[in-house]
Amino acid sequence: MRKKIVAGNWKMNLNYEEGVSLFSEIVNMAKDEVVGNQEVIVCTPFIHLSTVAKLSENVKNVNIGSQNIHQAESGAYTGEVSASQVKSVGVEYVILGHSERRAYFGETDALLAEKTNAALKHDLKPIFCIGETKEERESGKFFDIIKTQLVDGVFHLGKEEFAKVVLAYEPVWAIGTGLTASPEQAQEVHAFIRETIANQYDAETAENTTILYGGSCNPSNAPTLFSQKDIDGGLIGGASLKSRDFLEIVKVFN
Ligand code: G3P
Repeated sequence: MRKKIVAGNWKMNLNYEEGVSLFSEIVNMAKDEVVGNQEVIVCTPFIHLSTVAKLSENVKNVNIGSQNIHQAESGAYTGEVSASQVKSVGVEYVILGHSERRAYFGETDALLAEKTNAALKHDLKPIFCIGETKEERESGKFFDIIKTQLVDGVFHLGKEEFAKVVLAYEPVWAIGTGLTASPEQAQEVHAFIRETIANQYDAETAENTTILYGGSCNPSNAPTLFSQKDIDGGLIGGASLKSRDFLEIVKVFN
């Protein structure tokens, strides 16, 4: 049975004290709510990772993710952070391919394939983001875009390695806009993603892949979105910065 995951992406928000305080609230509220095959992941800026990883050590099914890593092992990459450095402070996941990194930092599918390899080499589980822009949606070419992101980003992986990947479908036009994809729009793409995985690998791999939805997900739309057959949870931005909202979303699976 594939995991149901609610992951928070804090993006570039919260100073150290604010982050530790928010995370402590989340852990105190989540520790009794996260049951069965559900998992909560909180992806914080680098400055919080070591502390929140320690705070989550003995909390079942609550794990930490970083929002990026560099693809190199180590070396003269001023300002960057490697997979092994992130892993060394107890982090389990890493968001890769987020549309903001593709758009603002020019991250290509080829680079993201390298970052995926680096993550897996150091036992970090990628939360690999895919999704189309408004123009690509309106052009009707969004299935092609999403398939290319999969093929060029993660389909080089063997079946066992791919099984460690969590996918996140994030229509770019829904991120931070309040314009959430309708349940039907999201389900249609999630089903396409799952079928594409089945064609690349096999039906069992597709069935076992957790595919999250991201893009203006909040406590009021999460229940309908998460009730869709191929939506296995959410990658939450703005709503993850408010402990009550984030916990309301976590509780959808209860
Ligand atoms: O990675 C999740 C994020 O891109 C979604 O942001 O604020 O629309 O929930 P938001």
